[in-house]
Amino acid sequence: RGNTTMDPLVAAVDQGTSSTRFLVFNARTAELISHHQVEINQSFPKEGWVEEDPKEIMQSVYECMERTCEKLGQLNIDLSNIKAVGVTNQRETTLVWDKETGEPLYNAIVWLDLRTQSTVERLINKAPGRNKNHLKHKTGLPISTYFSAVKLRWLLDNVEEVQQAVLSQRAMFGTVDSWIIWCLTGGRNGGVHCTDVSNASRTMLFNIHTMDWDPELCRYFDIPMEILPKVRTSSEIYGWMKSSSLAGVPISGCLGDQSAALVGQMCFKDGQAKNTYGTGCFLLRNTGTKPVMSDHGLLTTVAYKMGKDQPPCYALEGSVAIAGAVVRWLKDNMGIVQSTSEIEKLAAAAGSSYGCYFVPAFSGLYAPYWEPSARGIICGLTQFTNRNHLAFAALEAVCFQTREILDAMKQDSGIPLKQLQVDGGMTSNRLLMQLQADILCIPVVCPTMSETTALGAAMAAGAAEGVEVWSLSPDNIPNVTSETYHPQINTDESEFRFARWKKAVQKAMNWET
Ligand code: G3P
Repeated sequence: RGNTTMDPLVAAVDQGTSSTRFLVFNARTAELISHHQVEINQSFPKEGWVEEDPKEIMQSVYECMERTCEKLGQLNIDLSNIKAVGVTNQRETTLVWDKETGEPLYNAIVWLDLRTQSTVERLINKAPGRNKNHLKHKTGLPISTYFSAVKLRWLLDNVEEVQQAVLSQRAMFGTVDSWIIWCLTGGRNGGVHCTDVSNASRTMLFNIHTMDWDPELCRYFDIPMEILPKVRTSSEIYGWMKSSSLAGVPISGCLGDQSAALVGQMCFKDGQAKNTYGTGCFLLRNTGTKPVMSDHGLLTTVAYKMGKDQPPCYALEGSVAIAGAVVRWLKDNMGIVQSTSEIEKLAAAAGSSYGCYFVPAFSGLYAPYWEPSARGIICGLTQFTNRNHLAFAALEAVCFQTREILDAMKQDSGIPLKQLQVDGGMTSNRLLMQLQADILCIPVVCPTMSETTALGAAMAAGAAEGVEVWSLSPDNIPNVTSETYHPQINTDESEFRFARWKKAVQKAMNWET
């Protein structure tokens, strides 16, 4: 690797819904030097519930870190070249732990979880005009099962250990970033309890204008403010690593995973957008230093704030709950594939869904519908339909959902995207990428290095005051190679399929009536 060992390196923890990774990048070239990945178990204790074990999350973080350090050793790279660590994470997932014992007081309630559906209905019913957007002017978000405040409310109402810990002032609430940073900086022995503005903006307790926790929102959800982490910027030194091979290295970047991908894709300018295909699928469009409110079902979110003296940058977001998760469902629940990578071969064998449409509304429908009572539906089946067609329909579902978001963005901004920058695990599925270009009728641009989420967190960490080994600027963009998929079907064909999809969505929304 020549003189890369001389260059400063910056690492990132990427804790996603399905897996944890630790990655090390060269801060001069953005080259990925080494990494390790571990899958995360999800449990589904009741219908609609989705949980993860906070301790398993931390074990996976440490395992990935140690294995990556070993791999660096094998490359003869000295760990002292690592100048900073960034953290990026699945957003909204909610944890409460005991600051004295360091023990989690319940499993992490994952963003996809639907247990709060009745709480959400109650909150919407009490809002003036039963308006689910009642808090949108402050939060940028509709009242939904998706965000942390309702999950935290459920923990406070239903878990005695949490209630006791709040009473005895031992409870700490956090999203996954807070839990990881607290543990990595020492846990019950002086760990730092913080979050960044991008993660805070997904809780529904954060005012995206004042950039702080909002007492009125906390009263609305009846959340005790003393259990909330301190809100910091996305790029500053929060603390230093304790007890690992990287002890003493500053942790200086923190971004929700979708914000991190926006940074990693270098979408620093107003109007630039990216779509990340993970467990879910999230399209973010940078709207600059002013929050833009959507009239078409998109969220307004804080994208990042790169240091204390920098202004916040906002984004419009289209969130799709189920993307990669539909493939995992076909594998784990239906046994249609043995591994998720098999899906491409199956779908390619079908070549079309033959009129089969699959709306995977397993957690209701997110943007642009925000309909928690929607449920998954597969329609258009015939005697001819086989698992290959189902695989194809599942991939098409991911693309149609993205198309719905893109249409909403176009309606909101009046400006159509000329091409779509994509990233995330599913982008290695070439058939999916081609289908996406066909269904959007615009080119889809996929970077060769798909770990843009981790790259974004590493960049934030490397650019922090006191670290400064990475300069963040639209003019300092490393030379990233990419592959472009061009539409190969005509617009009529694409519109016909999309119209059918919309019909299927209506059935998923009203399946009970
Ligand atoms: O909002 C949830 C999102 O942050 C999860 O991302 O990549 O785990 O699907 P991912």
